[in-house]
Amino acid sequence: MSFAIAIDGPAAAGKGTISKAVAAHYGFAHLDTGLLYRAVGAKVRDGADPVEAAKALVAEDLDAAGLRTAEVAQAASRVAVNADVRAALVDFQRAFARRAGGAVLDGRDIGTVICPEAEAKLFVTASAEVRAARRYRELLERGADVTPEEVLADVRERDARDTDRAEAPMRPAEDATLIDTSAMSIEDAIAAAIAAVNARREET
Ligand code: CDP
Repeated sequence: MSFAIAIDGPAAAGKGTISKAVAAHYGFAHLDTGLLYRAVGAKVRDGADPVEAAKALVAEDLDAAGLRTAEVAQAASRVAVNADVRAALVDFQRAFARRAGGAVLDGRDIGTVICPEAEAKLFVTASAEVRAARRYRELLERGADVTPEEVLADVRERDARDTDRAEAPMRPAEDATLIDTSAMSIEDAIAAAIAAVNARREET
């Protein structure tokens, strides 16, 4: 049995937390596709060619230290506008989506480009201010030296680049369920996501 759940949305919307919880709830595998772009972005920052880095990516690269920094997030969103970089990462993501036993993929273009036939699609969002405040706390916990203003600027800049790019721009699939987590606790957001997926499971 394969069952794909696509969870898209802007920077720091809570996709990662929700995706992990949804995957654990159903016993599905989870792929954070942002890590693919972060791993390529980190290699490019270190001097690699973007397309070569994307083609040569291996699973262990996703475990590299330092991929969660704001600097690497910016590098990721810059390489993510490159159509050849995106193309090099498609097959891995599609194979993951169709693995036996079910899969949750989170990113920007899962429901629109990578897996438009996903059985369930969610678009998770929140106001830029709420997202930046959450990301600021996460980065502080990891010991990063950042200000709230810098984090908000990073979130806004990446949102604009991800939305305005020609290739696979970030947008909700027409049949995605929108979940605005601005005023929700993590528990409520997870419950809303599971309820939306259950509704789709009953339809399929
Ligand atoms: O964790 P956060 O939401 O801040 O970012 P991420 O999901 O790790 O993604 C980092 C960057 O990778 C994004 O700003 C996008 O530019 C890019 N990305 C993408 O283009 N397509 C995806 N499916 C996932 C990430």
